[in-house]
Amino acid sequence: TPDKEPLKPGDILVFAQGGGQGKPIRPEDLKPGDPFILAYPMDPKTQVVKSGEAKNTLLVVRYPPEELSPETAEHAVDGIVAYSAVCTHLGCIVSQWVADKGAALCPCHGGTFDLKTGARIVAGPPPRPIPQLPLKVEGGVLVAAGEFLGPVGVQASAGSCRLV
Ligand code: FES
Repeated sequence: TPDKEPLKPGDILVFAQGGGQGKPIRPEDLKPGDPFILAYPMDPKTQVVKSGEAKNTLLVVRYPPEELSPETAEHAVDGIVAYSAVCTHLGCIVSQWVADKGAALCPCHGGTFDLKTGARIVAGPPPRPIPQLPLKVEGGVLVAAGEFLGPVGVQASAGSCRLV
């Protein structure tokens, strides 16, 4: 079904929750210091929100631009960054904001990601960062400027056995 399609470059980011659910996200909706919001991609032509696939769940947050690492800033707009919200440990949704660190926390086993520096792992068991999604602004709203910069969700580790 169309709501299970994977995210594609050019998709518009919309609010996943709250009063604005389904509405495109404007840069001015986000303030530095505020917690991240959860978002889904929306097909710009059909306006279908792709909320039927957990792997499309995104985190979007704004920092003062000078706080972002150079690599992270490259794929941000005005300090706004987006990442996959699917934890790379066992696939829970990274859903909690750690205000004093400005970081994102996975409630399942405490995986904590610093979203200012490419989702570097600052605590817990995740084996790798949640991948960043490059952003741009088009028509006053946030749009995916490319594919995720790495694999989304849980990956079998390179050394693991493959069951056939
Ligand atoms: Fe996120 Fe385990 S699933 S820390």
